[in-house]
Amino acid sequence: MKKILITGGAGFIGSHVVRQFVLNYPNDHIYNLDALTYAGNLANLSDVEALPNYTFVKADITDETLINNLFEKYRFDAVLHLAAESHVDRSISDPFSFVKTNVLGTVILLQAFKNIWMGNWEGKRFYHISTDEVYGSLGETGFFTETTPYAPNSPYSASKASSDHFVRAYGETYGMPYVISNCSNNYGPNHFPEKLIPLCIHNILNNQALPIYGDGKFIRDWLYVIDHAKAIDLVFHQGKNSETYNIGGFNEWTNIDLVKLLCQLMDQKLGKTIGTSESLITYVTDRPGHDLRYAIDARKINTELGWKPSVTFEQGLVKTINWFMDNQNWLENVTSGAYQQYYKEQYNLIKK
Ligand code: NAD
Ligand code: DAU
Repeated sequence: MKKILITGGAGFIGSHVVRQFVLNYPNDHIYNLDALTYAGNLANLSDVEALPNYTFVKADITDETLINNLFEKYRFDAVLHLAAESHVDRSISDPFSFVKTNVLGTVILLQAFKNIWMGNWEGKRFYHISTDEVYGSLGETGFFTETTPYAPNSPYSASKASSDHFVRAYGETYGMPYVISNCSNNYGPNHFPEKLIPLCIHNILNNQALPIYGDGKFIRDWLYVIDHAKAIDLVFHQGKNSETYNIGGFNEWTNIDLVKLLCQLMDQKLGKTIGTSESLITYVTDRPGHDLRYAIDARKINTELGWKPSVTFEQGLVKTINWFMDNQNWLENVTSGAYQQYYKEQYNLIKK
Protein backbone atom coordinates (compact mmCIF):
# COMPACT_ATOMS: atom_id res chain seq x y z
CA MET A 1 0.00 0.00 0.00
CA LYS A 2 1.44 3.36 -1.07
CA LYS A 3 0.99 6.38 1.19
CA ILE A 4 0.03 9.35 -0.94
CA LEU A 5 -0.13 12.84 0.53
CA ILE A 6 -2.44 15.33 -1.18
CA THR A 7 -2.07 18.91 0.12
CA GLY A 8 -4.97 21.34 -0.24
CA GLY A 9 -7.41 18.44 -0.61
CA ALA A 10 -10.28 20.34 1.03
CA GLY A 11 -10.17 23.05 -1.65
CA PHE A 12 -11.83 23.22 -5.05
CA ILE A 13 -9.50 21.17 -7.27
CA GLY A 14 -7.92 19.27 -4.38
CA SER A 15 -11.26 17.75 -3.31
CA HIS A 16 -11.84 16.37 -6.82
CA VAL A 17 -8.29 14.98 -6.87
CA VAL A 18 -8.76 13.34 -3.45
CA ARG A 19 -12.02 11.73 -4.67
CA GLN A 20 -10.35 10.57 -7.91
CA PHE A 21 -7.55 8.85 -5.95
CA VAL A 22 -9.57 7.49 -3.00
CA LEU A 23 -12.14 5.86 -5.30
CA ASN A 24 -9.79 4.60 -8.01
CA TYR A 25 -6.86 3.40 -5.91
CA PRO A 26 -8.33 1.45 -2.96
CA ASN A 27 -4.92 -0.16 -2.37
CA ASP A 28 -3.27 3.22 -1.79
CA HIS A 29 -3.84 5.27 1.34
CA ILE A 30 -4.69 8.90 0.67
CA TYR A 31 -3.77 11.51 3.28
CA ASN A 32 -5.44 14.89 2.76
CA LEU A 33 -3.43 17.63 4.49
CA ASP A 34 -5.16 20.99 4.63
CA ALA A 35 -5.15 24.03 6.92
CA LEU A 36 -8.85 24.70 6.21
CA THR A 37 -8.42 28.36 5.29
CA TYR A 38 -11.47 30.27 4.02
CA ALA A 39 -11.11 28.20 0.80
CA GLY A 40 -10.94 24.78 2.47
CA ASN A 41 -14.16 22.95 3.22
CA LEU A 42 -14.46 19.36 4.44
CA ALA A 43 -18.07 19.29 3.24
CA ASN A 44 -16.51 18.94 -0.25
CA LEU A 45 -15.47 15.40 0.73
CA SER A 46 -18.42 14.15 2.79
CA ASP A 47 -19.01 11.28 0.32
CA VAL A 48 -15.52 9.78 0.77
CA GLU A 49 -14.55 10.76 4.32
CA ALA A 50 -15.56 7.41 5.85
CA LEU A 51 -13.66 5.24 3.35
CA PRO A 52 -10.87 3.14 4.90
CA ASN A 53 -8.12 4.40 2.56
CA TYR A 54 -8.70 8.09 3.44
CA THR A 55 -7.32 10.17 6.33
CA PHE A 56 -7.67 13.91 6.91
CA VAL A 57 -4.85 15.77 8.66
CA LYS A 58 -5.39 19.40 9.63
CA ALA A 59 -2.04 21.16 9.24
CA ASP A 60 -0.53 24.33 7.82
CA ILE A 61 2.24 23.71 5.27
CA THR A 62 4.12 26.73 6.62
CA ASP A 63 4.46 25.08 10.06
CA GLU A 64 7.89 23.55 9.49
CA THR A 65 8.11 21.53 12.73
CA LEU A 66 4.65 20.04 12.32
CA ILE A 67 5.24 19.19 8.66
CA ASN A 68 8.57 17.51 9.43
CA ASN A 69 6.97 15.51 12.24
CA LEU A 70 4.14 14.39 9.95
CA PHE A 71 6.55 13.28 7.21
CA GLU A 72 8.61 11.34 9.77
CA LYS A 73 5.49 9.75 11.23
CA TYR A 74 3.76 8.72 7.98
CA ARG A 75 6.72 8.46 5.57
CA PHE A 76 4.65 9.44 2.52
CA ASP A 77 5.78 7.75 -0.72
CA ALA A 78 4.49 10.57 -2.86
CA VAL A 79 3.19 14.11 -2.57
CA LEU A 80 0.61 15.79 -4.79
CA HIS A 81 0.94 19.43 -3.82
CA LEU A 82 -2.13 21.62 -4.40
CA ALA A 83 -2.33 23.69 -1.19
CA ALA A 84 -2.01 27.35 -2.10
CA GLU A 85 -3.48 30.77 -1.89
CA SER A 86 -5.17 30.76 -5.29
CA HIS A 87 -7.04 34.02 -5.95
CA VAL A 88 -5.31 36.73 -8.01
CA ASP A 89 -7.37 39.60 -6.53
CA ARG A 90 -6.45 38.60 -2.96
CA SER A 91 -2.77 38.47 -3.99
CA ILE A 92 -3.00 42.09 -5.09
CA SER A 93 -4.24 43.26 -1.67
CA ASP A 94 -2.18 40.79 0.41
CA PRO A 95 0.95 39.53 -1.42
CA PHE A 96 2.74 38.31 1.73
CA SER A 97 0.21 35.53 2.38
CA PHE A 98 0.99 34.25 -1.11
CA VAL A 99 4.74 34.32 -0.55
CA LYS A 100 4.27 32.55 2.77
CA THR A 101 1.99 29.71 1.65
CA ASN A 102 2.95 29.30 -2.00
CA VAL A 103 6.71 29.80 -1.75
CA LEU A 104 7.74 29.06 1.85
CA GLY A 105 5.09 26.34 2.26
CA THR A 106 6.27 24.57 -0.90
CA VAL A 107 9.91 24.69 0.19
CA ILE A 108 8.98 23.30 3.63
CA LEU A 109 7.23 20.36 1.93
CA LEU A 110 10.16 19.77 -0.44
CA GLN A 111 12.61 19.84 2.44
CA ALA A 112 10.48 17.47 4.55
CA PHE A 113 10.23 15.03 1.61
CA LYS A 114 13.99 15.27 1.06
CA ASN A 115 14.70 14.72 4.76
CA ILE A 116 13.02 11.31 4.72
CA TRP A 117 14.03 9.99 1.27
CA MET A 118 17.38 11.62 0.28
CA GLY A 119 19.58 8.91 -1.29
CA ASN A 120 16.64 6.51 -1.47
CA TRP A 121 14.45 8.07 -4.16
CA GLU A 122 13.37 4.84 -5.95
CA GLY A 123 9.56 4.81 -6.38
CA LYS A 124 9.11 8.25 -4.81
CA ARG A 125 7.62 11.32 -6.49
CA PHE A 126 6.82 14.96 -5.71
CA TYR A 127 4.07 16.23 -8.03
CA HIS A 128 3.59 20.00 -8.02
CA ILE A 129 0.27 21.30 -9.36
CA SER A 130 0.78 24.71 -10.93
CA THR A 131 -0.90 27.20 -13.21
CA ASP A 132 -0.65 28.59 -16.74
CA GLU A 133 -0.44 32.08 -15.17
CA VAL A 134 3.32 31.56 -14.65
CA TYR A 135 3.74 32.16 -18.41
CA GLY A 136 2.28 35.68 -18.18
CA SER A 137 -0.06 36.97 -20.85
CA LEU A 138 -0.52 36.07 -24.51
CA GLY A 139 -1.41 38.57 -27.22
CA GLU A 140 -4.19 37.80 -29.65
CA THR A 141 -2.40 34.76 -31.12
CA GLY A 142 -0.20 31.87 -29.94
CA PHE A 143 -0.36 29.36 -27.11
CA PHE A 144 1.54 28.53 -23.91
CA THR A 145 3.74 25.46 -24.45
CA GLU A 146 5.90 23.67 -21.88
CA THR A 147 8.89 25.72 -23.08
CA THR A 148 7.28 29.17 -22.97
CA PRO A 149 9.51 31.40 -20.78
CA TYR A 150 8.08 32.32 -17.38
CA ALA A 151 6.79 35.92 -17.13
CA PRO A 152 4.38 36.11 -14.17
CA ASN A 153 2.49 39.37 -13.78
CA SER A 154 0.58 39.12 -10.48
CA PRO A 155 1.85 38.41 -6.97
CA TYR A 156 -0.12 35.12 -7.19
CA SER A 157 1.51 33.99 -10.43
CA ALA A 158 4.95 35.19 -9.25
CA SER A 159 4.56 33.04 -6.12
CA LYS A 160 3.51 30.02 -8.19
CA ALA A 161 6.40 30.57 -10.62
CA SER A 162 8.78 30.72 -7.67
CA SER A 163 7.41 27.47 -6.25
CA ASP A 164 7.79 25.78 -9.67
CA HIS A 165 11.45 26.87 -9.72
CA PHE A 166 12.03 25.46 -6.23
CA VAL A 167 10.56 22.09 -7.23
CA ARG A 168 12.82 21.96 -10.28
CA ALA A 169 15.81 23.02 -8.15
CA TYR A 170 15.21 20.17 -5.69
CA GLY A 171 15.19 17.81 -8.67
CA GLU A 172 18.47 19.16 -10.03
CA THR A 173 20.26 19.58 -6.71
CA TYR A 174 19.08 16.62 -4.64
CA GLY A 175 17.90 14.22 -7.36
CA MET A 176 14.30 14.42 -6.09
CA PRO A 177 11.95 12.78 -8.63
CA TYR A 178 9.37 15.39 -9.55
CA VAL A 179 6.78 16.29 -12.12
CA ILE A 180 4.95 19.62 -12.64
CA SER A 181 1.72 20.40 -14.46
CA ASN A 182 0.52 23.87 -15.42
CA CYS A 183 -3.22 24.09 -15.96
CA SER A 184 -5.62 26.68 -17.31
CA ASN A 185 -8.77 28.00 -15.56
CA ASN A 186 -10.87 25.30 -13.91
CA TYR A 187 -14.61 25.47 -13.23
CA GLY A 188 -17.15 23.06 -11.77
CA PRO A 189 -18.72 21.85 -8.50
CA ASN A 190 -17.27 23.20 -5.22
CA HIS A 191 -15.70 26.24 -6.92
CA PHE A 192 -15.33 29.02 -4.34
CA PRO A 193 -17.53 32.02 -5.27
CA GLU A 194 -14.70 34.54 -5.36
CA LYS A 195 -13.83 33.27 -8.88
CA LEU A 196 -15.72 34.50 -11.95
CA ILE A 197 -18.08 31.59 -12.74
CA PRO A 198 -19.32 30.67 -9.24
CA LEU A 199 -19.44 34.35 -8.26
CA CYS A 200 -21.79 35.03 -11.18
CA ILE A 201 -23.92 31.96 -10.38
CA HIS A 202 -24.21 33.13 -6.78
CA ASN A 203 -25.05 36.70 -7.80
CA ILE A 204 -27.66 35.61 -10.36
CA LEU A 205 -29.35 33.52 -7.67
CA ASN A 206 -29.35 36.59 -5.39
CA ASN A 207 -30.28 39.13 -8.06
CA GLN A 208 -27.00 41.00 -7.55
CA ALA A 209 -24.75 42.79 -10.08
CA LEU A 210 -22.37 40.64 -12.18
CA PRO A 211 -19.06 42.56 -12.01
CA ILE A 212 -17.06 42.47 -15.26
CA TYR A 213 -13.54 43.88 -15.01
CA GLY A 214 -12.51 46.43 -17.64
CA ASP A 215 -14.06 45.88 -21.08
CA GLY A 216 -14.69 42.15 -20.50
CA LYS A 217 -12.55 41.20 -23.52
CA PHE A 218 -10.00 39.25 -21.47
CA ILE A 219 -9.67 35.63 -22.55
CA ARG A 220 -9.35 32.49 -20.45
CA ASP A 221 -9.15 28.81 -21.46
CA TRP A 222 -11.69 26.92 -19.32
CA LEU A 223 -11.47 23.27 -18.22
CA TYR A 224 -14.02 21.23 -16.25
CA VAL A 225 -12.43 20.39 -12.88
CA ILE A 226 -13.08 16.64 -13.08
CA ASP A 227 -11.17 16.54 -16.38
CA HIS A 228 -8.28 18.25 -14.57
CA ALA A 229 -8.43 15.66 -11.77
CA LYS A 230 -8.25 12.88 -14.39
CA ALA A 231 -5.28 14.58 -16.05
CA ILE A 232 -3.52 14.81 -12.66
CA ASP A 233 -4.12 11.07 -12.13
CA LEU A 234 -2.51 10.34 -15.53
CA VAL A 235 0.46 12.65 -15.00
CA PHE A 236 1.04 11.22 -11.52
CA HIS A 237 0.96 7.60 -12.68
CA GLN A 238 2.39 7.85 -16.19
CA GLY A 239 4.17 11.20 -16.53
CA LYS A 240 7.97 11.23 -16.81
CA ASN A 241 10.18 12.54 -14.03
CA SER A 242 11.57 16.08 -14.42
CA GLU A 243 8.92 16.92 -17.02
CA THR A 244 6.27 19.60 -17.21
CA TYR A 245 2.82 18.93 -18.69
CA ASN A 246 0.50 21.74 -19.76
CA ILE A 247 -3.20 21.00 -19.24
CA GLY A 248 -5.94 23.05 -20.89
CA GLY A 249 -9.46 22.91 -22.21
CA PHE A 250 -8.92 23.86 -25.90
CA ASN A 251 -11.69 26.26 -24.91
CA GLU A 252 -11.10 30.02 -25.10
CA TRP A 253 -13.79 32.49 -24.08
CA THR A 254 -13.85 36.23 -23.50
CA ASN A 255 -15.20 36.95 -20.02
CA ILE A 256 -18.18 38.85 -21.39
CA ASP A 257 -19.21 36.08 -23.82
CA LEU A 258 -18.82 33.49 -21.06
CA VAL A 259 -20.95 35.47 -18.60
CA LYS A 260 -23.63 36.02 -21.28
CA LEU A 261 -23.76 32.26 -21.97
CA LEU A 262 -23.96 31.57 -18.25
CA CYS A 263 -26.82 34.09 -17.91
CA GLN A 264 -28.73 32.38 -20.73
CA LEU A 265 -28.27 28.90 -19.19
CA MET A 266 -29.28 30.21 -15.75
CA ASP A 267 -32.40 31.91 -17.14
CA GLN A 268 -33.39 28.61 -18.80
CA LYS A 269 -32.78 26.68 -15.59
CA LEU A 270 -34.68 29.21 -13.44
CA GLY A 271 -37.56 29.52 -15.91
CA LYS A 272 -36.90 33.24 -16.35
CA THR A 273 -37.26 35.30 -19.54
CA ILE A 274 -33.99 35.14 -21.50
CA GLY A 275 -32.18 38.43 -20.84
CA THR A 276 -33.19 38.73 -17.17
CA SER A 277 -29.81 37.69 -15.77
CA GLU A 278 -27.85 39.50 -18.50
CA SER A 279 -29.36 42.78 -17.28
CA LEU A 280 -27.33 42.31 -14.08
CA ILE A 281 -24.01 42.68 -15.95
CA THR A 282 -22.09 45.67 -14.59
CA TYR A 283 -18.72 46.84 -15.90
CA VAL A 284 -16.34 47.72 -13.05
CA THR A 285 -12.80 49.04 -12.75
CA ASP A 286 -10.22 46.65 -14.19
CA ARG A 287 -7.94 44.34 -12.17
CA PRO A 288 -4.43 45.89 -11.98
CA GLY A 289 -1.94 43.99 -14.16
CA HIS A 290 -4.82 42.03 -15.73
CA ASP A 291 -3.47 39.39 -18.14
CA LEU A 292 -5.15 39.73 -21.53
CA ARG A 293 -5.21 36.11 -22.68
CA TYR A 294 -4.34 32.59 -21.55
CA ALA A 295 -4.46 29.63 -23.93
CA ILE A 296 -2.78 26.30 -23.39
CA ASP A 297 -1.22 24.10 -26.03
CA ALA A 298 -2.10 20.72 -24.47
CA ARG A 299 -0.71 18.55 -27.27
CA LYS A 300 2.03 17.00 -25.09
CA ILE A 301 -0.33 15.46 -22.51
CA ASN A 302 -2.68 14.56 -25.35
CA THR A 303 -0.11 12.71 -27.47
CA GLU A 304 2.09 11.27 -24.69
CA LEU A 305 -0.56 10.32 -22.13
CA GLY A 306 -3.73 10.17 -24.26
CA TRP A 307 -5.61 12.78 -22.21
CA LYS A 308 -8.29 15.06 -23.55
CA PRO A 309 -11.26 16.87 -21.96
CA SER A 310 -14.35 14.63 -21.74
CA VAL A 311 -17.06 17.30 -21.70
CA THR A 312 -17.80 20.30 -23.89
CA PHE A 313 -17.96 23.71 -22.23
CA GLU A 314 -21.74 23.87 -22.48
CA GLN A 315 -22.08 20.38 -20.92
CA GLY A 316 -19.67 21.33 -18.14
CA LEU A 317 -21.46 24.61 -17.44
CA VAL A 318 -24.84 22.86 -17.23
CA LYS A 319 -23.37 20.27 -14.80
CA THR A 320 -21.89 23.14 -12.77
CA ILE A 321 -25.13 25.13 -12.67
CA ASN A 322 -27.06 21.99 -11.67
CA TRP A 323 -24.58 21.29 -8.88
CA PHE A 324 -24.85 24.83 -7.48
CA MET A 325 -28.66 24.74 -7.71
CA ASP A 326 -28.72 21.38 -5.88
CA ASN A 327 -26.24 22.56 -3.24
CA GLN A 328 -27.50 26.00 -2.28
CA ASN A 329 -26.74 25.24 1.37
CA TRP A 330 -23.07 24.82 0.45
CA LEU A 331 -23.17 28.19 -1.33
CA GLU A 332 -24.92 29.90 1.57
CA ASN A 333 -22.43 28.49 4.09
CA VAL A 334 -19.36 29.70 2.20
CA THR A 335 -20.80 33.14 1.47
CA SER A 336 -21.77 34.02 5.02
CA GLY A 337 -19.35 35.59 7.50
CA ALA A 338 -15.91 36.53 6.20
CA TYR A 339 -17.00 36.34 2.56
CA GLN A 340 -19.34 39.30 3.06
CA GLN A 341 -16.47 41.47 4.27
CA TYR A 342 -14.21 40.30 1.40
CA TYR A 343 -16.94 41.05 -1.14
CA LYS A 344 -17.57 44.51 0.25
CA GLU A 345 -13.90 45.45 0.19
CA GLN A 346 -13.24 43.94 -3.25
CA TYR A 347 -16.28 45.26 -5.10
CA ASN A 348 -17.47 48.40 -3.31
CA LEU A 349 -14.14 50.08 -3.99
CA ILE A 350 -13.99 49.34 -7.69
CA LYS A 351 -17.41 50.32 -9.06
CA LYS A 352 -16.94 52.43 -12.20
P1 NAD B 1 -8.46 26.70 -3.50
O1 NAD B 1 -8.14 28.07 -3.05
O2 NAD B 1 -9.86 26.33 -3.80
O3 NAD B 1 -7.95 25.64 -2.41
C1 NAD B 1 -6.72 25.76 -1.77
C2 NAD B 1 -6.71 24.77 -0.62
O4 NAD B 1 -5.41 24.88 0.02
C3 NAD B 1 -7.76 25.06 0.46
O5 NAD B 1 -8.36 23.85 0.89
C4 NAD B 1 -6.96 25.68 1.59
O6 NAD B 1 -7.51 25.42 2.88
C5 NAD B 1 -5.61 25.00 1.42
N1 NAD B 1 -4.52 25.81 1.98
C6 NAD B 1 -4.27 27.12 1.76
N2 NAD B 1 -3.21 27.52 2.47
C7 NAD B 1 -2.76 26.43 3.14
C8 NAD B 1 -1.69 26.20 4.04
N3 NAD B 1 -0.86 27.18 4.40
N4 NAD B 1 -1.50 24.94 4.52
C9 NAD B 1 -2.34 23.93 4.17
N5 NAD B 1 -3.39 24.10 3.35
C10 NAD B 1 -3.59 25.33 2.83
O7 NAD B 1 -7.51 26.44 -4.74
P2 NAD B 1 -7.79 25.63 -6.10
O8 NAD B 1 -8.44 26.52 -7.05
O9 NAD B 1 -8.38 24.33 -5.77
O10 NAD B 1 -6.29 25.41 -6.59
C11 NAD B 1 -5.53 24.30 -6.14
C12 NAD B 1 -4.16 24.36 -6.78
O11 NAD B 1 -4.27 24.32 -8.18
C13 NAD B 1 -3.38 25.63 -6.43
O12 NAD B 1 -2.04 25.29 -6.24
C14 NAD B 1 -3.55 26.49 -7.67
O13 NAD B 1 -2.45 27.35 -7.83
C15 NAD B 1 -3.62 25.45 -8.76
N6 NAD B 1 -4.40 25.82 -9.95
C16 NAD B 1 -5.68 26.31 -9.83
C17 NAD B 1 -6.41 26.59 -10.99
C18 NAD B 1 -7.83 27.08 -10.91
O14 NAD B 1 -8.40 27.44 -11.95
N7 NAD B 1 -8.47 27.13 -9.76
C19 NAD B 1 -5.84 26.38 -12.24
C20 NAD B 1 -4.52 25.90 -12.32
C21 NAD B 1 -3.82 25.61 -11.17
O1 DAU C 1 -5.35 30.26 -15.27
C1 DAU C 1 -5.36 29.52 -14.10
C2 DAU C 1 -5.79 30.39 -12.94
O2 DAU C 1 -7.19 30.64 -13.11
C3 DAU C 1 -5.51 29.77 -11.58
O3 DAU C 1 -4.13 29.62 -11.41
C4 DAU C 1 -6.08 30.65 -10.46
O4 DAU C 1 -5.91 30.01 -9.21
C5 DAU C 1 -7.55 30.86 -10.72
O5 DAU C 1 -8.09 31.73 -9.75
C6 DAU C 1 -7.79 31.43 -12.13
O6 DAU C 1 -7.29 32.79 -12.20
P1 DAU C 1 -8.09 33.95 -12.96
O7 DAU C 1 -7.65 35.24 -12.42
O8 DAU C 1 -8.03 33.75 -14.44
O9 DAU C 1 -9.60 33.56 -12.49
P2 DAU C 1 -10.82 34.48 -12.00
O10 DAU C 1 -12.01 33.60 -11.92
O11 DAU C 1 -10.45 35.29 -10.81
O12 DAU C 1 -11.02 35.48 -13.22
C7 DAU C 1 -11.33 34.99 -14.51
C8 DAU C 1 -11.44 36.20 -15.43
O13 DAU C 1 -12.59 36.95 -15.06
C9 DAU C 1 -10.27 37.16 -15.33
O14 DAU C 1 -10.00 37.73 -16.60
C10 DAU C 1 -10.77 38.24 -14.36
C11 DAU C 1 -12.25 38.29 -14.67
N1 DAU C 1 -13.13 38.64 -13.54
C12 DAU C 1 -12.98 37.97 -12.37
C13 DAU C 1 -13.77 38.26 -11.28
C14 DAU C 1 -13.59 37.53 -9.98
C15 DAU C 1 -14.12 39.61 -13.68
O15 DAU C 1 -14.27 40.20 -14.79
N2 DAU C 1 -14.91 39.89 -12.62
C16 DAU C 1 -14.77 39.27 -11.41
O16 DAU C 1 -15.53 39.60 -10.46
